[in-house]
Amino acid sequence: MRADLLLKTISKGIDLVEKDVTGATLNHGKRVAVLCGLMGREMGLSDDDLTAFTTCALLHDSALTEWLSLRGNDEKGHCVIGQKNIKLLPFKSSVDGFILYHHEYADGRGLFGKKTGEYPFKAELIGLADRLDVEYNFSQGISEIDYNQSYSLQAREIFGKILYKYHMELKDENIDTAWLKYIPPWTISDNESVGIAKFMIKIIDAKSAFTARHSSGIAKKALVMSDFYHYDENTAARLYLAAALHDLGKLGVSSAVLEKPGSLTDNEFEQIKNHVRLTYYMLNDLEGFDDVKNWAANHHEKLDGTGYPFGKKADELDFNSRLMACIDIYQAVSEPRPYHDERSHEETMPILYSMSQKGFIDEKIVNDINIAFAAIEN
Ligand SMILES: [Fe+2]
Ligand SMILES: [Fe+2]
Ligand SMILES: [Fe+2]
Ligand SMILES: [Fe+2]
Repeated sequence: MRADLLLKTISKGIDLVEKDVTGATLNHGKRVAVLCGLMGREMGLSDDDLTAFTTCALLHDSALTEWLSLRGNDEKGHCVIGQKNIKLLPFKSSVDGFILYHHEYADGRGLFGKKTGEYPFKAELIGLADRLDVEYNFSQGISEIDYNQSYSLQAREIFGKILYKYHMELKDENIDTAWLKYIPPWTISDNESVGIAKFMIKIIDAKSAFTARHSSGIAKKALVMSDFYHYDENTAARLYLAAALHDLGKLGVSSAVLEKPGSLTDNEFEQIKNHVRLTYYMLNDLEGFDDVKNWAANHHEKLDGTGYPFGKKADELDFNSRLMACIDIYQAVSEPRPYHDERSHEETMPILYSMSQKGFIDEKIVNDINIAFAAIEN
């Protein structure tokens, strides 16, 4: 599978979080990645080095949900967490310091107080592309840039060279084409996608304290069921990825709504329900990914057509979509929530059985889950 395209598509969710915090605009992560891809080419980097560099550029602020969840005041936190998490991805080249130092300045007034030469040059370039895109919004064209001593001469030169030559390609309508031209394809095995799944679980689970272990619990249970059904390694990895991404769309739902204590208005409930539609559309433009997309985005559909977002019926829901729906319900019912305590397996199963009796979920899968989950810890 193409890891670069998967991460590019997922970055839409990360952008939505960054937009809330720093005012970054649509496609910000992609633009920072393409800018770094162009600079990396100028520097004559190998494909593996370009992959490591541009992926860090794309995901420079991916730790924002986790940092916000810790309610930390020290901005350094998002750099430290981001650096730790990025190492979950299956890179072939070093990414040391690339995200950790994306908020440094040449004159030493950055978050860690490092001066040019004391932190990786690629971290400086990521920081430069990031900050200038937020300040100047390169999707709208370019103007004269004031670097005001913030970046080294070497960084300014290389950036100036590519910006004026390629700025048309940074526009929203051109950015995906630019990606294909300047970011090398990064092909990984289905098995290697486990690192991407774990990376995404951290980001998505940190979005709301109410569901802090939700995706990780579901991914773990997806593995248990893959074992139970003797799935081959590749199918198991793809199901694990779908489990990790099933609530990707929650990144686009406001935290105030997700974490609202007490009852929700109809409009707020609609916003929450919209998370699966967002999951679907975020994954929709990825070729060769329909199975993962459907297993991820069908988890609130019901066999009788009363689910959402599409109201699909039994004949439109394949086995793993039905499985994911059952696992999601099991996880939501058994994990502690503000409005209910943690529930044991014995307390959880009657709720699933009552839903299968009503024709919402697959009875055979509920039976299998009853056997498979009896022995595992939540
Ligand atoms: Fe940042
Ligand atoms: Fe940014
Ligand atoms: Fe969901
Ligand atoms: Fe869920």
